Amino acid sequence: MNSQPIAFIHSTARFLPERVLTNADLERMVDTNDTWIRERTGIRERRIAPDEMTAADMGARAARCALQKGGLAPSDVDVLIVTTATPDRWLPSTACDIQSRIGALDCLAFDLSAACTGFLYALTVAEGFIAAGRGETILIVSAEKMSSIVDWSDRATCILFGDGAGAAVVRPAVDGRGILSSHHLSDGNLAPLLERPAGGSAMPLTPELLASGAHLVHMEGREVFKNAVRSMAQSGFAALEAASLSSDDVDIMVPHQANIRVIESTAKYSGIPMEKVYVTVDRYGNISSATIPVALDEAVEEGRMGPGSVVLMTAFGAGLTWGAVAMRW
Ligand SMILES: CC(C)(COP(=O)(O)OP(=O)(O)OC[C@H]1O[C@@H](n2cnc3c(N)ncnc32)[C@H](O)[C@@H]1OP(=O)(O)O)[C@@H](O)C(=O)NCCC(=O)NCCS
Repeated sequence: MNSQPIAFIHSTARFLPERVLTNADLERMVDTNDTWIRERTGIRERRIAPDEMTAADMGARAARCALQKGGLAPSDVDVLIVTTATPDRWLPSTACDIQSRIGALDCLAFDLSAACTGFLYALTVAEGFIAAGRGETILIVSAEKMSSIVDWSDRATCILFGDGAGAAVVRPAVDGRGILSSHHLSDGNLAPLLERPAGGSAMPLTPELLASGAHLVHMEGREVFKNAVRSMAQSGFAALEAASLSSDDVDIMVPHQANIRVIESTAKYSGIPMEKVYVTVDRYGNISSATIPVALDEAVEEGRMGPGSVVLMTAFGAGLTWGAVAMRW
């Protein structure tokens, strides 16, 4: 536990594209139905970005807004960390693309790859920069255009994901508010459960691979589900224990939003009632690493959390990666 928190979230923002893709729309695209999707996932609709809008475009909008809400200028940013499973391109990083768009030219910018867990890993990295005295304003941007890597003919995956971006400005802690503890792990042996097999250096794209869809998201849904619940609950407990807190102390849980059944099972194992859990999955589906910053921004706006609230964030994703962060808001 940090006896005194080192870093806290100074401001947040979100950007969701306007276009809504409903379950009824999906019924016209693949062999599925609204009842199945709602009962198995809790998702009613998700947002889809227009073709010309990239992950960096969405991230830049959220980033500008987070800085503005925090009373900061782009020139104040010391470090820009971008988490994304859908970079605009492989080289250079999407962080450099966002840096250029927002004009934060006096900082170092890099992408952090941890799939849906990215935002929580980034929070801990940001805390490390501050602890080391290597920056005072760390901008985290989680931007995802999942619609660009989903196989729209695979009903088991295409119903799950959506597009959007969230941003958070991390600054040195004040008045005992900030990150209390974190717990992160990964297990590369489980990589085949959720991957995009082709398109990297291991399997460079060929016309045949492209035609087979091997560059798109492939997932063993049931196995991912089991691991997700176990790992999020485990990390949540570890983070609480490290902060000398119990589940009763948690005012609000903000979990990664992949599936309402994963969220409900994790909350149950963690001993946290659903009234204390913030849910967006019904409206946005799984926006990968953007789910938590988007949810934080909404929860604050709705008055579900505020200064002093004990917030438990938990996430899991491809890798597999997972983690939890406990924070006094
Ligand atoms: C993907 C997921 C919703 C599937 O739900 P499930 O209850 O595990 O369903 P199954 O995969 O066992 O499939 C059950 C049946 O539904 C069918 N099915 C799958 N997708 C369907 C859809 N969109 N509509 C209708 N039926 C569907 C399957 O084909 C299967 O049919 P069968 O029994 O005739 O073979 C669920 O496993 C899940 O959410 N896993 C976690 C995924 C996740 O969170 N990934 C992101 C990680 S960050």
